[in-house]
Amino acid sequence: MAQEQLQAETQAGQQSLPRHVAIIMDGNGRWAKSRNLPRYMGHRAGVKSVRRVVEACRQRGIEALTLFAFSSENWRRPRIEVGLLMDLFVRTLKKEVHRLDQNNVRVRFIGDRSAFDPKLQKMMHAAEQKTADNTGLTLVIAANYGGRWDLVEATRRMAAQVAAGELEVDDIDSERLAGELCNAGLPEPDLFIRTGGEQRISNYLLWQLAYTELYFTDLLWPDFDAAAFDEALQSFARRQRRFGKTGDQVEQSRRA
Ligand code: IPE
Ligand code: IPE
Ligand code: MG
Repeated sequence: MAQEQLQAETQAGQQSLPRHVAIIMDGNGRWAKSRNLPRYMGHRAGVKSVRRVVEACRQRGIEALTLFAFSSENWRRPRIEVGLLMDLFVRTLKKEVHRLDQNNVRVRFIGDRSAFDPKLQKMMHAAEQKTADNTGLTLVIAANYGGRWDLVEATRRMAAQVAAGELEVDDIDSERLAGELCNAGLPEPDLFIRTGGEQRISNYLLWQLAYTELYFTDLLWPDFDAAAFDEALQSFARRQRRFGKTGDQVEQSRRA
């Protein structure tokens, strides 16, 4: 195993605060339904939770937060819901980017943006440019993202490099592949949170979640607040990350 990876794992195993948190924000529709509101109102309420969690991450000194905003499968929803989600996306971006920038947050988007309205693509690009030099929290928004898409794109890029004679087949290893994926350059998520009671990955960061600690809560995303986030952090702090080793080995290297 590469020395660098080993070092990263040893460090990750000893941290009680995650460096990178990845969240599937689920349950907006059910939150609205339980109040006899249209699903869209749940998404709107969900934006408030995003604000709260971003703030919580900043205050606690977490380095990166990746939020699943729209999956590559969410296009299957009724057209009207997809349209409303896109509108909300645009309005939220317009409203929030300035404040995020003031708060030293670096904003990035992952996913296939070519499917979005050109106006929205432009806004995404502008938000990234405006906040590129910020040094605080890195906020990654996964939009039209799918873990399989991410892996296919990476594979394609490497195949093209091989075909062009720029890459040897034997030089393809997991580090190389990881470097081609979205979120390359960020530490892999230490903690994964899914709200809404469902216990599945739903084609989120498939490769990147290989050794992530998983946390599921029945709370619906609009009800997820700073206290709920802290509970997830506390659960994380109690875990022993072994990366294949025995518990005793991990304990020993922690004491060393
Ligand atoms: C998550 O909430 C938000 C998106 C997928 C955009 P849902 O809309 O999936 O809410 P439920 O699962 O139907 O309650
Ligand atoms: C996952 O939630 C995607 C986002 C939160 C953006 P879904 O609600 O779409 O997931 P499934 O369909 O229940 O697995
Ligand atoms: Mg859902």
